[in-house]
This record gives sequence, C-alpha cells and structure tokens, in this order.
Amino acid sequence: MVYRKHLKSFMVCIMVAVTVVNICLNLNVQSEFWYLHPNGQSRFLKLSERYFVAYPRNYTFIMDETLTCKTTTPFLILMVPVAPSDVPARDAIRNTWGKKKVVLGRLVETLFVLGLPGGNDAEQQQEQLKQENAKHHDLIQGNFKDSYHNLTIKTMVILKWVAQHCAKTSYVLKIDSDILLHVQNLVKLLLDPRTAKKNYMTGLIWWHSPVVRNPFRKFYMPRFIIHEPEYPPYALGMAYVMSMDLPKKILDVSPQIKPVYIEDAYLGMCLKRLGLSPTDPPKKSMFVINPLFSLSNCRLSKVIAVTTKSTSHMLWYWKRIIQGAQCLTSS
Ligand SMILES: *[C@@H]1O[C@H](CO)[C@@H](O)[C@H](O)[C@H]1NC(C)=O
Ligand SMILES: *[C@@H]1O[C@H](CO)[C@@H](O)[C@H](O)[C@H]1NC(C)=O
Repeated sequence: MVYRKHLKSFMVCIMVAVTVVNICLNLNVQSEFWYLHPNGQSRFLKLSERYFVAYPRNYTFIMDETLTCKTTTPFLILMVPVAPSDVPARDAIRNTWGKKKVVLGRLVETLFVLGLPGGNDAEQQQEQLKQENAKHHDLIQGNFKDSYHNLTIKTMVILKWVAQHCAKTSYVLKIDSDILLHVQNLVKLLLDPRTAKKNYMTGLIWWHSPVVRNPFRKFYMPRFIIHEPEYPPYALGMAYVMSMDLPKKILDVSPQIKPVYIEDAYLGMCLKRLGLSPTDPPKKSMFVINPLFSLSNCRLSKVIAVTTKSTSHMLWYWKRIIQGAQCLTSS
C-alpha cells in the first residue's frame, strides 16, 4: 500500500519535471539553460550550442592533395562526407561506384571529406589518414572537429571546396557513405535535356517536413530556434545533386541564416532565402531511403541512390548492377 502510494507520487514528480523541461525548451529560454546530452554522456551542453553550430566560416583545408578539378575537369563530382575512422566505407566505395571514372562518356570523380579525428588516438588516426591519402589522393580534410553534431559544417566545407576548385564542373552530388549510387542512371538524368543546368537541386525532396517539437526524439528543434511549424522544402541528406552555380549562391546567403545542426534542412533554409526550391526527380523510384526489402533487379535498374545496411550489402547491389540487373517485363 505504502509502496504504491510512493510510486504514484514518484510518477507525478517525473511528469511534472518533464512538463517543466518541455515548457522551458519551447519558451524563450536562452543559452543559460543547460541540457543533458541525450546520448547519456555525463556532459552538459549549452542549449545554443546544441541547436546552432559553431561555424566561424574560416575553416581551412589541411589535406587537399587531390588533382581532381585542379588538373582534371569532371562533368560530375561525387562528394562523400565520412568519419575519419571509417576506412571500410571508403574502400567499399572505391571498389564500387567510386571506381568508374568515365560514365556515358563523361568524367566522374569521387572525393571523401572529413574533419579532424578526435579521441585519445587522434594523432595515430591522422597519421593513418596521411598514408591512406598518399595511396589514393582522394581525401579532403578541413580543420574542424569531425562529429555528428558538426555535419552542417562539413556540408558547408564541401560546398566551399567545390566552389573554389570546380568552376568548370557541371554538377556536384553530396552522398552519404552508406548509400549505393547507380552512377550511370545519375549521369543519364543529368544529361537529359529536360534537366535544368542552373538553380537545380534534386534528391528525395521533403516538401512539408514538420519541425520536431518532442525533446525526446531525434532531430528535436525548440521553437525559439525555428518558429515555423515546418521546414522549407529540402532534399534529404542521403544523396542530393546540385548544379555548380548553387554552392557559391548558398555560401553567399548562409551568413544571413544561423546554422542549425540538421544539415539538409539548413540547405533548404538557404535555398528558400535565395527564392529557390528543390526539384522532384522525374521518378520517385530514383531516390529510395531504407526500403523494407532489398531492391529487386527491376527496381535496382531504375534507382539512383538507395540506403544500404552494410558494406557487403553495397557490394552485393553493385555486383548486380554490373551484371546488368534489369526488368524482365518491358516497363
Ligand atoms: C576564425 O577566425 C576567428 C577570428 O578571426 C578566430 O578567433 C578563430 O580561431 C578562427 N577559426 C579557425 C578555425 O581558424
Ligand atoms: C565542431 O567543430 C568545432 C571546430 O572544430 C569545435 O569547436 C566544436 O567543438 C565541434 N562541435 C562538436 C559538437 O563536436
């Protein structure tokens, strides 16, 4: 009896506490409020640091020995943000869709973008990165700390690098390292006369993505940071392609918009400020996120980008593409 009564008041206390936290987060409580990091680290982050990103815009490149865009002029450049330690993902890409350089007669090149490794073995990791780059010459490293929370910085650094180096390139694709890319289908789309050559961005477009207000969910964003109930239309971060005029335009407008940690939504906010909007791909089947089942040969023959569950999953898809996966019926 006594135990149950205590349990009840305990539950009430918890509910009150949750409500108070909720209200605080949604009202104009500014940076003095401290918030427990949800991944359980015994570390507190200032609220402002949690939803905005430190982005002083003067990051420099400490590793940039690639010849891509310096002595070559690719039609399309594939930029892959990746964690410094994720060598298996880079090798899987080098052995699959990152390998082929001439696709439908056009030059396509792949680069990996990373920040500074963290942790106790940071120096050792950096040494390994140098060796990896000496072998492949495909790493671009910025002098910001590489972390999930800093993805917006990474994206802006990618845009900065291509804007500085690849003026003669037609399109740039940003793609996550766990995505399978059907390079030929992408090049086919970009060569299609109906595809715009300027102010063009496509991918899996979210037209009415609500801003998450539940503080216990991933991608939570309090009202005092973003007041609108939904984000402007944006291309999901898994893979999006843009015409080469956009990186500079986005960089130029970005100082007017406070960087939030959700990188793809942030690009949507920048596009909106430019008075632009992303474009749906000609077919929905081109960009597929987390399909319930692995793609059939027929679906695989039409896809541009699809999430994979592992590097072996990616290799398996790639083998099937190479073997000429196609639809049995002519549809
Ligand atoms: C950027 O510039 C500011 C002021 O000029 C300086 O304090 C800061 O350390 C610089 N950041 C980087 C990453 O170079
Ligand atoms: C993001 O990068 C900046 C610059 O290196 C660093 O000061 C900051 O701590 C990083 N943030 C996180 C959450 O890692």
